[in-house]
Amino acid sequence: MTDYTNKVVFVAGGTSGINLGIAEAFARAGAKVAVLSRRQEKVDAATARLRAIGGEARGFAADVRDYEAVSAALAATAADWGPLDVIISGAAGNFLSLAADLSANAFKSVVDIDLLGTFNVLKASWPHLRKPGATLLSITAAQSWLPTPLQIHVCAAKAGIDQVTRTLAMEWGGAGVRVNAIAPGPIADTEGMSRLAPTSTAQQAWTDSVPLKRYGTKQDISRAALWLCSEQASFITGVVLSVDGGVALGGSSAMTRAMSL
Ligand code: HXC
Ligand code: NAP
Repeated sequence: MTDYTNKVVFVAGGTSGINLGIAEAFARAGAKVAVLSRRQEKVDAATARLRAIGGEARGFAADVRDYEAVSAALAATAADWGPLDVIISGAAGNFLSLAADLSANAFKSVVDIDLLGTFNVLKASWPHLRKPGATLLSITAAQSWLPTPLQIHVCAAKAGIDQVTRTLAMEWGGAGVRVNAIAPGPIADTEGMSRLAPTSTAQQAWTDSVPLKRYGTKQDISRAALWLCSEQASFITGVVLSVDGGVALGGSSAMTRAMSL
């Protein structure tokens, strides 16, 4: 396993699902891990799980849409533990809605959580990053390049994250900071897939849309995250790495069938 002993890792949206899986993997690899999300009870439960792994952990109850709160959490982490080595931006919101039924505020809510939230996390981390050496990783989705019915808000927000990734990679590369993203496919036992595929019929349609014919696991994503943030990937920046069993290869038609449209 990649060694992160004494490295400082901050995971926005790290209190459940895929992002908690990533936070736990970094903790198992020796890192000090801070997590941030809105609900205090989720923050407390996540930090307890991280401490049970054996390392140092801390948590912050804050909304990624609140730049000052995010900035304060990052500053407090750096003040306690020193320069930040890894920043993960994974907070997101999702639900199914046809564009015609979606209010402007509903569209804005998802764009604000996913895209503005990612900008806030990455931008606010800048003064606290280890330079050179820090690595930033956002969690995007195949919807960032596959137009997907019922997902116009997510498609727009995740596409924006991909461009934030590439643009920051260019601006911050000179400081020795790498900026990448992972685009997961459908991942088992997650809030995301319980919303996108709530029935067994929908789950089967999603599974059929994946060339490897299975949902991914949280470990599939955390392994990729540990590798992409490590020295083993030291010449990689500005990439959006699909970890999706090939789902994106099927293109929009496969996603559309999975959505039962
Ligand atoms: C239509 C909806 C809606 C729904 C909320 N809204 N739910 N519109 N269908 N199901 C509308 C509301 O009516 C309101 O608009 C606006 O959205 C904001 O709603 P709030 O409840 O005030 O928003 P907020 O409290 O900020 O909550 C954000 C949220 C919520 C996104 C709506 O679901 C949330 O907090 N989700 C976080 C957890 C989550 O979604 N996890 C899954 C991520 S997975 P009006 O006009 O009435 O004011 C993921 C997977 C991607 O992203 C890819 C998988 C392959
Ligand atoms: P999840 O368990 O709902 O994770 C979302 C996390 O973000 C939670 O910790 C949540 O905690 C936090 N969060 C949500 N809104 C927030 C806000 N405004 N401010 C701060 N924190 C916020 O969902 P998941 O399915 O594991 O998804 C995790 C990531 O993977 C997301 O970026 C998602 O788009 C991406 N993804 C998922 C799949 C999948 O199959 N599930 C596929 C592709 C991409 P609080 O509620 O406490 O805020």
